[in-house]
Amino acid sequence: MPASVSSSRNNISCKYLLDISITLLWLAFGALNFTERQGRRLPVFLDQEYVPQSPVEIVLSMYKEPIDEVEELVNNLKSMPALSDARVTIYIKDGEANSTHVRHQTGANNATILPNVGREGETFLNHILNQWDSLARQTIFLQAGIHNPREFYTHISNYYSRSQTGFLNLGLSGAVCNCEDCGDRLFWNDKAHLFPRIYNRIYNSTTCDNVLLSYKGQFIVSAARIRGVDKDIYYALWKAFVDKGSWAHQPQILQGPDSMSAPDFGYTMERMWNLLFQCSNSDVVWKCPSLVSKWRIGGDIGDCQCFDV
Ligand SMILES: *[C@@H]1O[C@H](CO)[C@@H](O)[C@H](O)[C@H]1NC(C)=O
Ligand SMILES: *[C@@H]1O[C@H](CO)[C@@H](O)[C@H](O)[C@H]1NC(C)=O
Ligand SMILES: *[C@@H]1O[C@H](CO)[C@@H](O)[C@H](O)[C@H]1NC(C)=O
Repeated sequence: MPASVSSSRNNISCKYLLDISITLLWLAFGALNFTERQGRRLPVFLDQEYVPQSPVEIVLSMYKEPIDEVEELVNNLKSMPALSDARVTIYIKDGEANSTHVRHQTGANNATILPNVGREGETFLNHILNQWDSLARQTIFLQAGIHNPREFYTHISNYYSRSQTGFLNLGLSGAVCNCEDCGDRLFWNDKAHLFPRIYNRIYNSTTCDNVLLSYKGQFIVSAARIRGVDKDIYYALWKAFVDKGSWAHQPQILQGPDSMSAPDFGYTMERMWNLLFQCSNSDVVWKCPSLVSKWRIGGDIGDCQCFDV
């Protein structure tokens, strides 16, 4: 073999090794950076005194989804061993629906018609406020038409723990924003500066860090965590939906169409559940695989959620 060829081979493999080393250095650097960012640990407020009367409840926000699809969703969930005894409550925002029929066909424990206001955000806050003293130990909040169904079920069976889950997001996650100037790659921006305001009310702090955004309005949260936050905060958010004259419906903060049944504020609420339930630390961000990749190599059940400990 001519010397020149062999030396150019050597050059190539040297360059290859160098590339690998540089990549590894960057990875190490990235990992260290992430570790450093976890430095600031926020306190977690839990209501440990509360004694729930039921273990798990599934709360569905329904509009005009076909009843047999909702029935299938309920059946699929209840066929999971950890959810076999879950109580099912359906809130229907279609005034023409027959709630008795929905209850019978889906096998739900309760189906109630609500005014068609504020989409799923209002439904979930409504449930929290009205069932404050009868919240299940854990509640699974979902829209009757769930997003990414295949990944959704895998995500629940991989991560949901009846004994440990405090907050588990079941939608897309991973987007982080600067709390003081929050926005994402979609069209959304926190024009009303609600994130810093809620952050301040929860943590009594005038500065706020990066926060993890939630999407799709599907998540599991414990009663201890819900009730760890001042009830007035939920009431203020709920009021913003239902009160036509509230700040949430003022033209200067709107970024798109706004109506009582499909409020612009719904997009902000959709992104705020992680913050509200005190689970927006950055380690939940980088450890959790996307819904589609399902599991991180070397992963752990704690990766995607916050435990109540
Ligand atoms: C609602 O559904 C129930 C049960 O299927 C049925 O008995 C009842 O007649 C229905 N009511 C109306 C107003 O259609
Ligand atoms: C369903 O829930 C609503 C609201 O909490 C309540 O008023 C109603 O009595 C319940 N219905 C049944 C059948 O349990
Ligand atoms: C909130 O912070 C202020 C100022 O640091 C302090 O006076 C107040 O007691 C705190 N309130 C709570 C509930 O921690």
